Amino acid sequence: MLSEQTRSIVKSTVPVLEEHGVAITTRFYENLFVAHPELLNIFNQANQAQGRQQAALASSVHAAAVHIDNLEEILPTVVQVAHKHVSVGVLPEHYPIVGEYLLKAMKEVLGDAATDEILEAWAEAYGVIADAFINVEKDMYKETEDQENGWIFFKDFVVARKVKESEVITSFYLKPADGSNVPPYIPGQYISVRLTMPEEEFLVIRQYSLSQAPKPDEFRISVKSENDNDPNGVVSNYLHRNLNEGDPIEVSAPAGVFVLDVSKTTPVAFISGGVGITPMMSMFETVAHSTPYRPTTFLHGARNEDQHAFDTDIQSYAEKMENARYKTVYSDEPNGFITRELLEEYVDPASDIYVCGPPRFMEIMIRELHGLGIPEEQIHYEFFGPAMDLTMN
Ligand code: HEM
Repeated sequence: MLSEQTRSIVKSTVPVLEEHGVAITTRFYENLFVAHPELLNIFNQANQAQGRQQAALASSVHAAAVHIDNLEEILPTVVQVAHKHVSVGVLPEHYPIVGEYLLKAMKEVLGDAATDEILEAWAEAYGVIADAFINVEKDMYKETEDQENGWIFFKDFVVARKVKESEVITSFYLKPADGSNVPPYIPGQYISVRLTMPEEEFLVIRQYSLSQAPKPDEFRISVKSENDNDPNGVVSNYLHRNLNEGDPIEVSAPAGVFVLDVSKTTPVAFISGGVGITPMMSMFETVAHSTPYRPTTFLHGARNEDQHAFDTDIQSYAEKMENARYKTVYSDEPNGFITRELLEEYVDPASDIYVCGPPRFMEIMIRELHGLGIPEEQIHYEFFGPAMDLTMN
């Protein structure tokens, strides 16, 4: 438990963190990777290049300072981040390293304003926050390992099949190289894949949503290719071009908190933009198999017909379900967007609504759903990439 004095010192730094948070975390990563280049094997360099990881860490440090009197407030976010940490293999011994370089960066950026008193208070607070992460992650590692067919860290898989789903999306069916089955997962969860790429000095890790309902013997991910000069596409494009049937790839166990509540039978709606369709496929297929009578809506926005994946799959599931509605709009066509009117027409206001897509798409969908009076607790969403706002659920 942090003392009253420590907590009030940490809280007094909130305005400074608001102003300099990203500068501190940017400096932190620069110094960290010089001292510990081996950590480049686990961090996503594209997120670094775009400052997304720096912003995510700054926002989490800031949120921790704001909620220092009541850290339970940020527990849901700790759990979400812990899923990501476990998926990439973060270990307890990494925390003191991160703590050391975070404090050094505070000192370097804030100069004399970072008094010994402030740095000591932050060192103490960091210890408490790190312990919270370490404990949550320890439980998750144990649970993952104890699960039937479970493992921790990375396991050797092979590509069993590679299937083109649209002009830009290709599915990879992955099976354990040792012939074992895969563990069950909750629709909506993701895996990390790890590989070496010829032009990269370090291992690369990326997360991809599992894109089909759980099956005993395989995972499926569906990957979107990007423009060649988009840093986000380096690994995805490599997979498209170079990863073929029979090739090996390392995979971590399923993780993530953006998941379908499979116990429910009340109305449900899946709203996706572009490759945000992938976790929706897993959720929708699960509803189609397990609760086909559940009132279900599938709304999807794609650029055009050529880039539209899974159309026939969704149609054939929807036809067999008792009460399913499916609608796609193409943004290359006039009025090709999911509007408030369309949401009103297709989405039962009592639905649990799952939203996934590019950040701008998600912002608009969430705003329009709020505009329709849908309560916050019925709207579930996940931004791909580092969590930018720690207070989001
Ligand atoms: C991801 C916070 C400690 C490695 C993240 C994210 C946040 C975060 C907010 C983004 C989550 C997301 O993508 O949804 C923190 C905080 C820490 C901490 C507050 C300390 C209390 C560590 C440590 C390591 C680590 C000790 C290991 C060296 C990573 C990695 C990612 C990540 C590899 C994935 C980011 C990527 O895409 O490259 N962390 N983290 N973190 N964290 Fe941490």
